[in-house]
Amino acid sequence: MAVFKTVVGSGLVLFATACGSSSPEPSKGASAAGNNGVAGSGSAALAGAGGAGGAVALGGASGGSAGANGMAGARPTCMPPADVFSPITELSQTGCVDPTNPSQPSASAVSYEVNSPLWSDTADKTRAFVLPAGAKIHVRDCAANAADCPNGPADDGRWNFPVGSVLIKTFAFDDRLIETRLFMHVDASNWVGYSYQWDEAQTEATLVDGSGAEVMFNTQTRVVDWHYPSQKDCLNCHNNSAGSTLGPETAQLNRTVAGMNQIDRLATLGVFETAPAKPYKAALVAPYPGPADDPPSTATSEQKARSYLHANCGFCHRPGGNFANFDLRNDTAIKDMMLCNADATKGAIENYPGKTKLLVPGKAMDSLLWLRMNEPNPLKGRMPQIASFVVDQSATSLVGAWINALDTTTCPQSP
Ligand code: HEC
Ligand code: HEC
Repeated sequence: MAVFKTVVGSGLVLFATACGSSSPEPSKGASAAGNNGVAGSGSAALAGAGGAGGAVALGGASGGSAGANGMAGARPTCMPPADVFSPITELSQTGCVDPTNPSQPSASAVSYEVNSPLWSDTADKTRAFVLPAGAKIHVRDCAANAADCPNGPADDGRWNFPVGSVLIKTFAFDDRLIETRLFMHVDASNWVGYSYQWDEAQTEATLVDGSGAEVMFNTQTRVVDWHYPSQKDCLNCHNNSAGSTLGPETAQLNRTVAGMNQIDRLATLGVFETAPAKPYKAALVAPYPGPADDPPSTATSEQKARSYLHANCGFCHRPGGNFANFDLRNDTAIKDMMLCNADATKGAIENYPGKTKLLVPGKAMDSLLWLRMNEPNPLKGRMPQIASFVVDQSATSLVGAWINALDTTTCPQSP
């Protein structure tokens, strides 16, 4: 029997967005059925709340909200809420999932897979996106358009989603759903993230408090300690300099899914302004055998380690990121990563006194890059320090092997 025990999670944490509801937003009302049931900014009545007993009340899903749609029977559109402080509380009512089976994305959503996933404490994950009607993804092309890449060519092939887009990620353990996250492009400069907690019956997921929550989740074969991130944590990782969305880029999505190249399939669906040029940018290798894939047999330990660091760390440790002293993006040459023999600005961490170098070629045990991945406690220097509490042992062995194989020629001290 599944048991959810809420341990933490009260008090709404506000987050930085500039005027989410007052700026002109092309998404709003852009489509004829464009009403998601979130009416009236500032309304305390959360959309969906009134639908509790009403099963899958579509169109007018919000509990009698003012000025709701005149489209009785129309499905709510998956889009950012008019008031970012009043998101829809029931996942089934968001329009982003199938209202009769909210474990599945809505018909308007495009599912995708990545080559190199974020480690989420062993969770299995599925992903999808919904574009506003008529809007397209811009694929950054650093050579053709320097303005696409203010932080250098290592951002080549990253995908920019149009205002109004919603990205969806669902987490499961042992086939039991625990969380669905919606990440929404509110206006030209703002994104907002919402987390939904799945119920025991697996029929509905409900909005989690903005400050996050922690539960003990019984999958029926094990008990998982699960942390729903706060809205602030979403934006810490999904930061502007990294492009806000973190998975979608050509190197991540260039893979075969159901017998077909995934980017070919997306191009056929017409989601791109301009589809990436062929041959597509080289795929990131799977870092280690996982639910998605095994690494190709030709993959070197360097390719695997760099792929992992790119996907798990490179959105914070990058120019403009929230700790930019070194650069863990895959395309940055080792000599330019500012890691080799570099002194840590933050010094040693509690459990590894005296270790003050970020990366000592040939010596993982002396390298904070490795030691911090190997530390489980976020209060004692764990990396990443948010949203992950279980050491990824496949990754520590991989990154350890890479560091141990480096020498001062392959990893020359940064200037
Ligand atoms: C520790 C950093 C971290 C935190 C915290 C985090 N995410 Fe993410 N998220 C990622 C990374 C990295 C990816 C891409 C890799 C993947 O999909 O596995 C991702 C992917 C996603 C996706 C798929 C689209 C995309 O950008 O790739 C959604 C949706 C998402 N996250 C929503 C959220 C929401 C909502 C929150 C807060 C409740 C949140 N995330 C918190 C790192 C984070
Ligand atoms: C959410 C953003 C974020 C993510 C993701 C993240 N880091 Fe960090 N990292 C930071 C911040 C912020 C600091 C500074 C920590 C402090 O104040 O002690 C830091 C510090 C570090 C340091 C010490 C730097 C110094 O100069 O002392 C290392 C090494 C490091 N991170 C490695 C990693 C690795 C490896 C990963 C991925 C497995 C990772 N980080 C993921 C934000 C992040």
